[in-house]
Amino acid sequence: MTEKNESDRVLIFDTTLRDGEQCPGASMGLGEKMQVAKQLARLNVDIIEAGFPIASPGDFEAVQKIAETVKGPRIAGLARCVDKDIEAAAAAVAPAGDRGRIHVFLATSAIHREFKLRKAKEEIIKTAVASVKKARSLVADVQFSPEDASRTELDFLAEVTEAVIDAGATTINIPDTVGYTVPAEFGRCISYLKENVRNIDQAVIHVHCHNDLGLAVANSLEAIRHGARGVECTLNGIGERAGNCSLEEIVMGLKTRSDFYGGLWTGINSKEIYRTSRLVSQLTGLHVQRNKAIVGANAFAHESGIHQDGMLKERSTYEIMNPEDIGLTTGSELVLGKHSGRHAFREHIQELGFKLEGDPLEQAFEDFIDLADKKKHIYDDDLVAILQQNLDVITGAYMLKYLHVSTGNTTVPTATVKLEKDGEILADAACGDGPVDAALNTIERITQVNATLTDFALQSITSGKDAQAEVTVTVRFEDKQLLTGKASSTDIVEAGAKAYLNCINRYLAK
Ligand code: KIV
Ligand code: ZN
Repeated sequence: MTEKNESDRVLIFDTTLRDGEQCPGASMGLGEKMQVAKQLARLNVDIIEAGFPIASPGDFEAVQKIAETVKGPRIAGLARCVDKDIEAAAAAVAPAGDRGRIHVFLATSAIHREFKLRKAKEEIIKTAVASVKKARSLVADVQFSPEDASRTELDFLAEVTEAVIDAGATTINIPDTVGYTVPAEFGRCISYLKENVRNIDQAVIHVHCHNDLGLAVANSLEAIRHGARGVECTLNGIGERAGNCSLEEIVMGLKTRSDFYGGLWTGINSKEIYRTSRLVSQLTGLHVQRNKAIVGANAFAHESGIHQDGMLKERSTYEIMNPEDIGLTTGSELVLGKHSGRHAFREHIQELGFKLEGDPLEQAFEDFIDLADKKKHIYDDDLVAILQQNLDVITGAYMLKYLHVSTGNTTVPTATVKLEKDGEILADAACGDGPVDAALNTIERITQVNATLTDFALQSITSGKDAQAEVTVTVRFEDKQLLTGKASSTDIVEAGAKAYLNCINRYLAK
């Protein structure tokens, strides 16, 4: 194995919990954020941007709890160049000790200066410097982002960068906030900063690219080639508008093309990629498209005869990465059967990286036995789906205990549902336009939460005719809040009902 130089290390700054969570419909509760943060630590990201502490008490609490609980990565909190933001971020990341980071940002482009901030260049520099100094008085690790950097005049960008490094910024993050730049131009921007900022060697350069033109990964790779040593990214590329640079694509791009990128490396444990992707998809409810690079259902599927023939002769004819490298073992091994005991189940899920105890473990085991009754082969993917559903067994949540639907082309679809909440069983029945509608109407009657289903999408997650179906629903609540929920089952109506309940539970938990 070739030796890895520390100077060639590309830091992975994960912002799934901050920029990713800004994606419409993707908001997560405290429990969900904790699960993602713990999994990000297993994935071995270098920095977790856990949230924007001043944004809401919920955000503050999540950053603080993550800083308190999650060991390993640095924990960052975002702040505008405003004292109360910086103080809130410092307080929230304090439990992480010297792993705590404050990330301050201020827009620098002409368009933002003129129309959003109404500030002249000198004032921008003065504000940025004062805020970085303020942050440095509270923590040792301070990152500064000139928002909309890619549309900022290069000489002014260099001036701001130099000033904030002098003020104590240890990381300079160059955002392509609106996904406007293209690879050659962004590479030149990083080179310009390396050549024209006197003290640039005193800070690490990160880049933060949005995907409006579908170039976030390409722009980030080009920036790394020109000297950036940190990439800000999210799992599955989720984020504002068209999303952020995707973590799995940047990591596997560098790993797969290490021949081209000459020794650049990340500390990511790539075998955790697939599991993390699924967890984020499950908890945010944001569906991963089938043809998504690295983690999409078709990413390692070979359909055409010529490709299949080539694969059988020599895998590398049509496969540039091993599915095992991202922890994908779908269909390859039969893991457990319905006669497996609780002990074997617990051991196996620990190998998959899930530590469940008490009620969630019991519920997951019951779900596993139920599934084993319905489905002949149970694969790791089936188990991951069950486990992810049971990670959020939260007190006060509604749990689906019984569902019966009678339907047909000559009957009015009618559902009977029993839900459990805090140990109490609540039952009701209702009709609907179809079996799913009937089930959801019944849930609405029991929970008394008025909600409108705006989207219902179905995907199979394992293969075979007894495959589990994964249903993703998007629900709009009375206060216009939009939440997305996901659940899986061998039965589509049951998966739909569970996904809908998932949204209701998250809505009520908020
Ligand atoms: O896109 C952006 O500019 C950001 C900053 C806060 C870094 O998210
Ligand atoms: Zn962003």
